[in-house]
Amino acid sequence: MAKAPRDQWKSKIGFILAASGSAIGLGNIVFFSANAYRFGAGAFYIPYLVALVLLGIPVMMMELGLGHRAQRGFPEAMYQSAGVKGEWVGWFGLLNASVITMYYITILGWVLGMLIGAFGSLWQPMAVAAFGIEKGVLSNSMAHFFDMISRGDTIAYVLIVWILNVSAVWWGTKSIERWVKVCVPLMWLFMFILILRGITLPNGTQGLLLLFTPNFEVMKDPEVWQGAFSQIFFTLSLGFGIMATYASYLPKKSDQPTNALTISFLNCSFEYAAGIAIFSLLFCFAIVPRASTLSMTFFVIPEGIGAFPVGAQLFGVLFFALLLMAGITSSVSLIEAVGAGIIDKFGFSRRKTLLVISIIGAAGSCCFAIPTVIDPVLRSNGTLGLSLLDLFDHWAFSYGLLTCGFLECIFIGWVLGAHKLRASLNEHSRIRIGPIWDWMIKIVIPLVILLVLGNSLRQEFRNGLYGSALETGRLVNLHVLVLALYLAFTIGGAFVLTGAGVYHRRRKRRAAILLDEENR
Ligand code: ALA
Repeated sequence: MAKAPRDQWKSKIGFILAASGSAIGLGNIVFFSANAYRFGAGAFYIPYLVALVLLGIPVMMMELGLGHRAQRGFPEAMYQSAGVKGEWVGWFGLLNASVITMYYITILGWVLGMLIGAFGSLWQPMAVAAFGIEKGVLSNSMAHFFDMISRGDTIAYVLIVWILNVSAVWWGTKSIERWVKVCVPLMWLFMFILILRGITLPNGTQGLLLLFTPNFEVMKDPEVWQGAFSQIFFTLSLGFGIMATYASYLPKKSDQPTNALTISFLNCSFEYAAGIAIFSLLFCFAIVPRASTLSMTFFVIPEGIGAFPVGAQLFGVLFFALLLMAGITSSVSLIEAVGAGIIDKFGFSRRKTLLVISIIGAAGSCCFAIPTVIDPVLRSNGTLGLSLLDLFDHWAFSYGLLTCGFLECIFIGWVLGAHKLRASLNEHSRIRIGPIWDWMIKIVIPLVILLVLGNSLRQEFRNGLYGSALETGRLVNLHVLVLALYLAFTIGGAFVLTGAGVYHRRRKRRAAILLDEENR
């Protein structure tokens, strides 16, 4: 039976919208502003731009080139380029991406809950106290959020977001393209409206000044650089296998270096636009976003919007709708990357694969939404679900993505040979990539990632294993359990899937030989 032709994007614009929609997500809208503030606002944008040029764009070119050259999902593309060990890296990346997908969708479930609240209840003073904390002690948005996550009905929001995601990937590129053609332009429009609102508020431009005034003193701090390098991987959707998967649906004669520049430019422009909107709207009310990324999303920004003289409800709805759309165009790409990896390797049907992924994934997302209160006085995360999310995020975001990027560079740079991938990138490109790119992939980027990872590990040893200080009630060693589960799922799982791949490939080869013999 002839093999069905590979799914392809209908148009170049469809691909650009899908890939930029994947890159533009929660990372751009809130994580960037939270990090920017944490690392000294004006101090952050220069390291961020350096990270973009040094790491982001070259790795984006590598991932797009890898998938496009192989016309396969991430593990198969890595296998074709670097053998079985390369395939293991592909599975490790996808399993790490699966962990992120599960909690990313939980966060989107909470965003949906806040969106519903933004139509009314979010702006009313809380009728009940959240947890064991007296009424009026927490800000309105904080009380609303903690009350929401400690109720079982958030599980329903999480499941709704899963259903939306699966419906968007069900028909492959066709349905993804349909979604992004609506969502991505709307995201830009909503962001534009938020910027206009922010800078026209009294003193709205104060925040901009802070965002764009460089602070060279703070740049001496290695943590600022570490923050910028981790942020660039997450925001450009690198180290997830997404870009390789999306590029594998492009026709043979497409230009990956130009695509990489276009996607990076769109992503970073959106990120700065979000920075402008958020800094201006918060600073005009003297709200200082000294907050973690989640608190930025769910407490600080709603607090700012709630202080608007008019239109708080409208702008609140706009903000959470924007977050939801941006988040879904990213989570869709995560699910597609995992699905394509499995379909391309094992030849399962798309529908069955998506059903299995969504059942397992939704179960995982529900774990991150477990409403059981384990920290009633809110010394740290409050519920079991949020504590699990915090712990898994630490390993998957701060270590997993960069580890995957590091291994990709090593295998592509040294095993396949960066020059070979460069030759294939240059084949249809308007921009010529020079040999310097080879050295970036082989030496510079792995060294930078090693420095960042080494510094994170040093802090881990100095301050104790992440999570040891979290308030987790009777679950005393939750942080150790989470680390063990994370390692077993990503590292162990990658061995299992690679091994199953080897077995599957041998079986396919044997079947081909038998067929050949029969035909003779
Ligand atoms: N790139 C996506 C984001 O920034 C994952 O949220």
